Amino acid sequence: MRENVKKHNQTFWKTFASKHWEKAPFKMALGSLGISKMDDDAIFKMLLEYSNLCRQKQEVQGLKLFVDGVRQYDEEVLQILPVKKDKNLIGYHQRVSAIYPDYCLVCDELLQVSSAHWPQLVDFTQGLYNQIGLPYRFTEMGLYLGNYRKTPFGVHVDGCGVFSFPVVGRKKFRLWTSEFADKNPKLKETFKYTKFKSASELMVVEPGEMSYWPSKAWHIAESSGEFSATWSLGVWVDRKQKDFVLESLTPLILQQLGDAPTLANGIAQLEEVKSLPDGLRNALVEYKNISQAVLSDHLLRSWLLHCSKQGFKTAPLLKEVLGLKKNSVACGVLARPIFWAKSSDSKTLFVAFNGVLIDTAFDFGLVSLMKDLNAGLGCEIAKYFDIKSFSRQKDALAELARVGAVQLSKK
Ligand SMILES: [Fe+2]
Repeated sequence: MRENVKKHNQTFWKTFASKHWEKAPFKMALGSLGISKMDDDAIFKMLLEYSNLCRQKQEVQGLKLFVDGVRQYDEEVLQILPVKKDKNLIGYHQRVSAIYPDYCLVCDELLQVSSAHWPQLVDFTQGLYNQIGLPYRFTEMGLYLGNYRKTPFGVHVDGCGVFSFPVVGRKKFRLWTSEFADKNPKLKETFKYTKFKSASELMVVEPGEMSYWPSKAWHIAESSGEFSATWSLGVWVDRKQKDFVLESLTPLILQQLGDAPTLANGIAQLEEVKSLPDGLRNALVEYKNISQAVLSDHLLRSWLLHCSKQGFKTAPLLKEVLGLKKNSVACGVLARPIFWAKSSDSKTLFVAFNGVLIDTAFDFGLVSLMKDLNAGLGCEIAKYFDIKSFSRQKDALAELARVGAVQLSKK
């Protein structure tokens, strides 16, 4: 059964990639896509959990509140976040709309509290990535809710392909092509677009459906004042391969070049500059001294870290942390495999899980433990290590347990 669903999903993503991805807007019923489980109740629970985190920390990272289209101060946002008593999204809306007749709450950080739905989210994006490739940026999860009449920032473009999933109310998106927006710059960032309406496409999406628009589509959400809640996955395609390489290697180059002087030595030259000053010549030598192996390992570590987040901006936070004992039984977390790679000299093992990278000495026992964990087997840690290798890998194992790659239970 599961295999049938997988095959069906693969066929869907294949068609989607060839006909719609970065080409044209699209709408469909969610049907067998596992993501349909993320309904209004699931989204309320996640928003409540994230709100509780924000109240604990007294900060509102990734949350924005707009009232009558005007962004409110963070203190205001903290006051108005969902509480358990609201019971559901409708309950929350009844409480908030009594205070603010026109509001829009945005949350961009629900991935942090997505552990219950992580397998479905990964299934969804992997289906897409298998066809289009892994983005050098990431996929972000967003939520828009309220009874606002228009998106508070007007007609805009985001740089990400957007999949939207309404969970309460009917959602209306108005879309324009980038070609049209470029020819009609007055459309950009405006709220008054009556004269451009005939060139737009109106997409009306309901709970149980999904819409998609390409990263270059200019868009705005419209409503006549009724409440709606819509979560989304934004697949960012604004980071190029060269950005990835540059950002990965810059720290290494900076470290190699050391503390940079602010004055070049030597006498200022007139007209034809015949040579580099000594400082820059030395910098060039230092730069060339970075070996191919070091460059390759550095890029590999970045890539491994990137892969370990499975193409998402962030992975869910771990709730439980357990201590490590040599005779502990470890259970892998199936939906989030542990990734690893060998360094160029095969002496170091780079291990990555959920955006955390661990360097440790290469060890066959650790590799076979990770393979078994990824296969979903319950593993008795003692069977993979002798006393010497266990003590060498103790820190790496403890770190893997701390970040949730390994769940430990006593024998
Ligand atoms: Fe947008």
